[in-house]
Amino acid sequence: MNIIVTGGAGFIGSNFVFHMLKAHPDYRIICLDKLTYAGNLSTLEPVMDNPNFRFVKADICDKEAVDKLFAEEKPDIVVNFAAESHVDRSIENPQVFLETNILGTSVLMDASRKYGVKRYHQVSTDEVYGDLPLDRPDMFFTESTPIHTSSPYSSSKAGADLLVLAYYRTYGLPVTISRCSNNYGPYHFPEKLIPLMIIRALHDESLPVYGDGLNVRDWLYVEDHCKAIDLIIHEGKIGEVYNVGGHNEMANIDIVKLILKELGKSEDLITYVTDRKGHDRRYAIDPTKIHNELGWLPETKFADGIVKTIKWYLDNEAWWQPIVSGEYQNYYEKMYGDK
Ligand code: NAD
Ligand code: TYD
Repeated sequence: MNIIVTGGAGFIGSNFVFHMLKAHPDYRIICLDKLTYAGNLSTLEPVMDNPNFRFVKADICDKEAVDKLFAEEKPDIVVNFAAESHVDRSIENPQVFLETNILGTSVLMDASRKYGVKRYHQVSTDEVYGDLPLDRPDMFFTESTPIHTSSPYSSSKAGADLLVLAYYRTYGLPVTISRCSNNYGPYHFPEKLIPLMIIRALHDESLPVYGDGLNVRDWLYVEDHCKAIDLIIHEGKIGEVYNVGGHNEMANIDIVKLILKELGKSEDLITYVTDRKGHDRRYAIDPTKIHNELGWLPETKFADGIVKTIKWYLDNEAWWQPIVSGEYQNYYEKMYGDK
């Protein structure tokens, strides 16, 4: 089985590459990644010499490069993680979100049609459903919750989802979509809440909490997400959407306090800052469908996963220090520039 994984040098994509090489030692995994600021090739160093792994630096919007790779590899499955993924950046500069997240998706699906890919899987987000009120803990996102986006990021992801379903209906492309809640774990880029707070707390820097800090996210350990996608690409029904989440709802401020406690740091570091524009209040997934149809259940509880994650950042300063200093962006040139 040949699987093209786009965005495999990013947070979830790299965890998925590791998961797949381990879970399916007979599969060939080809990672296509542009190495934007969010892609870090050093993350993939442990698998670079694996004969079942290939890395290709390319942009999913580049039709020629995508076509060449599909012609060479004749993939059975395509899993698209490649995206601009940070809400705050999308508020500053929406354009690149539309290019990568929507146009890039169409380029990948055109190639998937042309080369007869047996499954195109789109990695989407619960953010396409908009947000839920804080005072209605009984409400959850199901697969039939209407799409109702808030940020340029979530709108671009929703646009891609609609296009994926259109390719299924119009051309019969065999697609599946997963919409997952917030992930956390190793290799999470330090601009996102959890790694940002861990690293700033370690440096005794102020911790910027947006608004009142009461916004709620439904956190899932990244490995559980990877296992869900593995299940969906093998057993999921074509044309279907699967919500992925583990009923691990936490207010931002409680996460920040937990991190401070684990690191033995003072809550005085907490600084409330101006709220994010259009800030979604609460996300919460109902994972009944993937549980009933595919037997998926999250395995890592938040209380354990967050301790594991903090420990990972403590043990892996060599991974995040070059990111914080900006040095990691020279890594590709240094290692592969003349290859
Ligand atoms: P990330 O920002 O850490 O990584 C994105 C990767 O995509 C990077 O390696 C980057 O270099 C690559 N990339 C960006 N533009 C590209 C392009 N034009 N061509 C090729 N590669 C490109 O993102 P992540 O957090 O790992 O998220 C991966 C996917 O999962 C995204 O589609 C995101 O929308 C979705 N998702 C993320 C979360 C989350 O909590 N992080 C939750 C649900 C869904
Ligand atoms: P983030 O990790 O950016 O993920 P998303 O916006 O996709 O959910 O943010 C998670 C939550 O943390 C969100 O409610 C915004 C908040 N947040 C802060 O309070 N301070 C920060 O510095 C960041 C990056 C996020």
